[in-house]
Amino acid sequence: MAYFEWADDLCIDHGPIDADHRRLVGLVNELHTATSDGSGHSVVDHVLHELVDYTRAHLRREERLMESVHYPDFAAHKANHDRFILRIQGLQAKFEAGSITVASQLSTVLRDWLSIHIRREDKAFKPYISHLDPNGTLIGVLESLGYEH
Ligand SMILES: [Fe+2]
Repeated sequence: MAYFEWADDLCIDHGPIDADHRRLVGLVNELHTATSDGSGHSVVDHVLHELVDYTRAHLRREERLMESVHYPDFAAHKANHDRFILRIQGLQAKFEAGSITVASQLSTVLRDWLSIHIRREDKAFKPYISHLDPNGTLIGVLESLGYEH
């Protein structure tokens, strides 16, 4: 069983948002593996960078989508993302300053935050994009906002 299991109740759009979330779940699992099987510092550092960068890019992409559909709770949702980005960047800085244990702490923080955030906050936003065909219109909207896949 994976450290962070994908589950059906994590589905938001059956399209690009889910693909991003699945990628994040995969990266959290990679980080967990790298920190628990004794991989060297450079391997952990590489996965950690990718995970933090991808999380930031994903959250910004989600925000642009929310703005484009005039999601009424956008400001609160974005504030939540911003707080989380600061938190993981703070942990990443501690890792870079030499703390080894913080990398495994980060996989827990990301797993717990993502599984709650997707199930609560992202799900609240689901009705605002449900009229968009996930692999047609929604992808088109995201591409026009700079989405690369
Ligand atoms: Fe979100």
